[in-house]
Amino acid sequence: MEISVLTIFPEAFQIITQIGVIKKAIQKQIVNFEVLNLRDYTTDKHKVTDRPGYGGKNGMVMLAEPFYRFYDEYLLKKGSKPYIVMPSPQGETLNNQIALELAKKEELIFFCGRYEGIDERVSRLVDKKISIGDYVLTGGELPAMVIIETLLRFVPGVVGSQESVENDSFYNGLLDYSHYTKPAEFRGMKVPEVLLSGDHKKIELFRKKESLLKTILKRPDLFRKKDLNEEEKDLLIEIIIELYDRSFGKNDKENFDD
Ligand code: ADE
Repeated sequence: MEISVLTIFPEAFQIITQIGVIKKAIQKQIVNFEVLNLRDYTTDKHKVTDRPGYGGKNGMVMLAEPFYRFYDEYLLKKGSKPYIVMPSPQGETLNNQIALELAKKEELIFFCGRYEGIDERVSRLVDKKISIGDYVLTGGELPAMVIIETLLRFVPGVVGSQESVENDSFYNGLLDYSHYTKPAEFRGMKVPEVLLSGDHKKIELFRKKESLLKTILKRPDLFRKKDLNEEEKDLLIEIIIELYDRSFGKNDKENFDD
């Protein structure tokens, strides 16, 4: 997979190429990652990439020309059209589904804007605008890094265990279960007994129940969208019975109708 980023701050991307998942993906040659300086595609000697916006009162706008020059050169060099993403507060909000789709692309390009944005005519080159949330950052560099990290987790071989990706929050429409490591007791807080039992089936069911319960309590909006399978329905019934028994005692159920 090839990922290229077009930005006036190439150095900002050192943070993701020098640590963690993306560094590993580059080292393993799963991803060819290239950061390009937008100034190299300007035509004037001062390498200007922005000008005051037409209409007044709305600050600096990034010029269309350097983006189009990059695009023309890329097409000439590669011969194929890349998939172009522009981080933008006006885009679709990033989620796992979008990241999974991006992870399937062979050649991805990120156009990073600054200031008030990029000349609207650049949108013609863009396949997808993506927002990372309902707040505004001063540029597209951090959102691009967030999007790249999110999609790379779905590229086979990037994350050590595919199982851990599939158990992560949101992957199956639920929040992740809790994680613990040694010691089994820390400052009076104990790791749930079942996790120490070595009984893998029991552990799996315990974790699935925890995921369901966490999602209901913390993200009811996610839970509403979730299509429950038969096992999940059974687990929900168990959760309700356990909670009922804990609150009212085991023998009280017969009197429920009274
Ligand atoms: N650029 C500025 N704010 C942004 C956001 N929330 N998401 C994506 N790109 C942005």
